[in-house]
Amino acid sequence: MTEKGVYMTEINDKVQNERKKVVLSGIQPTGTITLGNYVGAVSNWGKMQDDYDSLFFIADLHALTVRREPAELRQMCMSFFAQLLACGIDPEKSVLYFQSHVPAHSELAWILNCNTYVGEASRMTQFKDKSAKHADNINMGLMDYPVLMAADILLFRSDLVPVGIDQKQHLELARDIAIRFNNRYGDTFVVPEGYIPKTGAKVCSLQDPTAKMSKSDPDPNGWVSVIEDESSIMKKFKRAVTDSGNEIVAREDKPGITNLLVIYSVMTGKTVEEAEREFAGCGYGTFKTAVGEAVAAKFKPIREEYARYLADKAYIAEVAKAGAEKAARIAARTLAKVKRKVGLVSFDK
Ligand code: TYM
Repeated sequence: MTEKGVYMTEINDKVQNERKKVVLSGIQPTGTITLGNYVGAVSNWGKMQDDYDSLFFIADLHALTVRREPAELRQMCMSFFAQLLACGIDPEKSVLYFQSHVPAHSELAWILNCNTYVGEASRMTQFKDKSAKHADNINMGLMDYPVLMAADILLFRSDLVPVGIDQKQHLELARDIAIRFNNRYGDTFVVPEGYIPKTGAKVCSLQDPTAKMSKSDPDPNGWVSVIEDESSIMKKFKRAVTDSGNEIVAREDKPGITNLLVIYSVMTGKTVEEAEREFAGCGYGTFKTAVGEAVAAKFKPIREEYARYLADKAYIAEVAKAGAEKAARIAARTLAKVKRKVGLVSFDK
């Protein structure tokens, strides 16, 4: 695994202008990686790792905000790591690790907590949604979630954060915290930009095209997974909810067809307009089959690679350890600077 120069110099302000841009993102290990996660985020991670210094992690600490069976969480973490590798995250190009293996995430989160207002955190729509959904477990972590996410991002002086639209509000909070901290203590953090795709920022459920496709949706017909087999993918697309009328066009009053056109566009690399032309005059059934086939074709190699990676636990451990070591080295610089700025004593030079 090659050590890229920028990791040794990026925190050095003198070379700040020369450094390559840093890309960072994370994913919670719950369920499996869905088509939504893939289109909105993970497929872009794969593309960006060629041009940027990239860090991607399994947000296992974030996953603790909802009650989980410990054994199941552990198994999902391994599975997600294998899924990311199968989706093309290349450890030769990206730093790939488990969030909990880099304690600096939690340490910075505490300091940022002391620079975040309760009012800001309680306004987050995901906090409100999740509080309603898990009314018997509105824990501190649920509210603190976006502050930990800000720490994830700011720790690595990330320039770009590739996410789906549902993370936009959290990203804005991370920016606000960075700006506030910089104003109070002097230039410390890079203020990150979101990288939200124009097409596919919100892939919707196949059963309710007005709702986000979510890996926690209890109706399995609403989502497909990157490791799902072809026949199951085809079945779900054939059952996908469509709209009245018979035109295959992307329009506000046609959320079902629009969602399918977006999925087809991202899977095939064609534009939505090209897809509309391709299916002009076709019936919904033919169109849904074509979208299913495009998704199944894209995911087939991912499913095969996934099985291979998951069977090789030693390789996952090797990559994850090396990733955590690299990430910890980068993070230590920012954390030391932050601690100094806020007035904590240090005997290190
Ligand atoms: P998570 O695990 O819910 O989702 C992972 C990524 O997938 C995107 N996404 C979608 N994009 C399009 N359509 C959808 N239906 C869809 N569903 C999910 C999400 O926007 C996300 O980019 N809080 C984050 C994880 C996180 C993180 C971070 C991300 C923790 N720390 C720091 C970026 C930077 C989350 O729960 O994502």
